[in-house]
Amino acid sequence: MANELSAAQLRVNFEEIFGQAPDHTFFSPGRINLIGEHTDYNGGHVFPAAISLGTYGAARKRDDQTLRFYSANFADKGIIEVPLQNLAFEKEHNWTNYPKGVLHFLQAAGHVIDKGMDIYVFGNIPNGSGLSSSASLELLTGVVAEKLFDLKLERLDLVKIGKQTENEFIGVNSGIMDQFAIGMGADERAIYLDTNTLDYELVPLDLKDNVVVIMNTNKRRELADSKYNERRAECEKAVEGLQEKVDIQTLGELDEWAFDEYAYLIQDENRLKRARHAVLENQRTLQAKVALEAGDLEKFGRLMNASHVSLEHDYEVTGLELDTLVHTAWQQKGVLGARMTGAGFGGCAIALVNKDAVEDFKVAVEKTYTDLVGYAPSFYIAEVAGGSRVLD
Ligand code: GLA
Repeated sequence: MANELSAAQLRVNFEEIFGQAPDHTFFSPGRINLIGEHTDYNGGHVFPAAISLGTYGAARKRDDQTLRFYSANFADKGIIEVPLQNLAFEKEHNWTNYPKGVLHFLQAAGHVIDKGMDIYVFGNIPNGSGLSSSASLELLTGVVAEKLFDLKLERLDLVKIGKQTENEFIGVNSGIMDQFAIGMGADERAIYLDTNTLDYELVPLDLKDNVVVIMNTNKRRELADSKYNERRAECEKAVEGLQEKVDIQTLGELDEWAFDEYAYLIQDENRLKRARHAVLENQRTLQAKVALEAGDLEKFGRLMNASHVSLEHDYEVTGLELDTLVHTAWQQKGVLGARMTGAGFGGCAIALVNKDAVEDFKVAVEKTYTDLVGYAPSFYIAEVAGGSRVLD
């Protein structure tokens, strides 16, 4: 895969920037979501997987109280220095607000981080692609601190601190899916997670003769955060309407029939559509797990398609670029299913494609997309890999 870094190369890169060898090197993956979109903050199920694209890190403990960060992706920003005593959010600290937030919440939870660090970071998740580069960086920071300060941490605590950073430090009201997938990922396994209880299962991802092709719109995800928070608020309002007659806290507690019966309580059309998506998408995710375990990949693919239709028409988070990719993918030979993945509004889609058809698939989708959108998409084959970890 492009831009993979070995631990040895990471060590060399670190030393070039900081003048000394790092104590350890690390990797934290990105994620795709197979199905179960915009269900995680609605108390539903998600079905993501960690991938081999992600964020590399190398770090060394310092004797003083200074944090020094360097990202090869933002080389123009140089080394960003932050005093350990002041981990408040600061706009000009740019990308380092993610690691700062994680360190802040680790300390707030009582973990002792009493020395500074030099931290080198390089990510090969394409910029703004919706494959969770931010959660990847959050969990990377978590494993760095865990290793260098010998913290006694449950992985789930780290996952929750990543989410807390996103919600309370960065200001995006996201659910737990990304951090959970990235923290808990395993080789060749998808993660079937009930976001209400946090019960989860690692499900073997046996795709037979097929692969997951990631298709990047290469569209900048503008306004994604504000639209995301808006969708979340619409779902909360829908729940308030339903609560007049039904004893629920989240949409994930309803099946399609219970929802249908009480949908009249949601007066606003947009709220009704958002809620319908959340309820049906959750049911599709349950069905998709059964289909995968039964080896019924045709059904799994149709559920992916249905998910996209619902995200396009009811949740309205797709747009020309994602719709063009997905609709074009549906028309190609050897394609079992395709849908957007992640928050939407640009970013990536995924398709389940027969191995032998992948090359023709890419050529055809690229051509149609470029004709209609005006620039080319990018493609990657998803390798489903392990969660955030120490390399050496
Ligand atoms: C983003 C969020 C996740 C989830 C998805 C949509 O990736 O970070 O919590 O809500 O969007 O499914």
